[in-house]
Amino acid sequence: MNKQEVILCTHLADNLSQAIARIPHDRLFLLTDVHTHALCLPLLREVEALGEAEEIIIGAEDVNKTLDTLAQVWTALSTQGASRKSLLINLGGGMLTDLGGFAASTFKRGIAFINIPTTLLAMVDAAVGGKTGINFNGLKNEIGCFSPAESVLLETQFLRTLDAPNIYSGYAEMLKHGLISTPEHLNELLAFDLGQINYEQLKHLVGHSVKVKEEIVTNDPHEHGIRKALNLGHTVGHAFESLALAENRPVLHGYAVAWGLVCELYLSYVTTGFPKEILQQVIYFVRRVYGPFLFTCKHYEQLYELMKHDKKNSNGVINFTLLKGIGDIALNQHANQKLIFETFDFFRESMGI
Ligand code: GLY
Repeated sequence: MNKQEVILCTHLADNLSQAIARIPHDRLFLLTDVHTHALCLPLLREVEALGEAEEIIIGAEDVNKTLDTLAQVWTALSTQGASRKSLLINLGGGMLTDLGGFAASTFKRGIAFINIPTTLLAMVDAAVGGKTGINFNGLKNEIGCFSPAESVLLETQFLRTLDAPNIYSGYAEMLKHGLISTPEHLNELLAFDLGQINYEQLKHLVGHSVKVKEEIVTNDPHEHGIRKALNLGHTVGHAFESLALAENRPVLHGYAVAWGLVCELYLSYVTTGFPKEILQQVIYFVRRVYGPFLFTCKHYEQLYELMKHDKKNSNGVINFTLLKGIGDIALNQHANQKLIFETFDFFRESMGI
């Protein structure tokens, strides 16, 4: 996989003009959703090259991350004369950059694309690292491929109008990057005041966070080894997310990850010796920012089944990424049912439920 260029923008219009100029292309296409068309596109007014671009607008949110929407993008590219040398710019959150990246990677066996993520979750995770795809057959990201964007432009101005729950959601992935990198980065993340955001400081944190992910992806682009570190918090987190969805009380992805981090740090404390005082600091932060995830012991079996069916596992063995310490990663760890149920007990107690 080629290395993608990740740019922390100083001036989005200039940075994008330069990125477009660096990629030889015949035609330019711009993918937006109904929200980013209205709210984010105006920030790109000054980009002269976009005057020539054909815009493709799709529905927003995960419900539109479908084969039908993908076909809509392919159809627009095809009928409007895109060639193998055309360039697609994806302006949106993780759903849009995943789908747009997949549309570009498969159209005429692959055309170049640029990602401009507009949510915190997409900036620090989805739009960086080359994972693209759509939901299929009731399963999230079931169809997709590894295919890096030529450039990813991080414009943190977009965060000024992002609602608080979506800031917190993206921040959980940043917390994960802190845990798998260094005590200094984790401490600056834990000390950051999400109640009264200093956007300059947040920009600095986003830049640092993305570097953590980039370094891991460069070493293992196709997730054969160390990239699994990025799954910390996600084995339990995905089960919480699926349970919430099944019970018609959906939660944002990052909230589930934050709760999953608490559970998987507890597992790390018990099995790989992760320090208790850092676990306590993370619990305090998660309880304060994300509140509790409500469930009872009647849900334990269901959560356990959901974890067994996670696509990261094989043969029904639940695979965890755990930590021995901050940045000290233990891949391919296992826990039996008794310990997992004990973890749920611990989580509920520490969240005060
Ligand atoms: N979101 C985890 C990864 O990109 O591998």
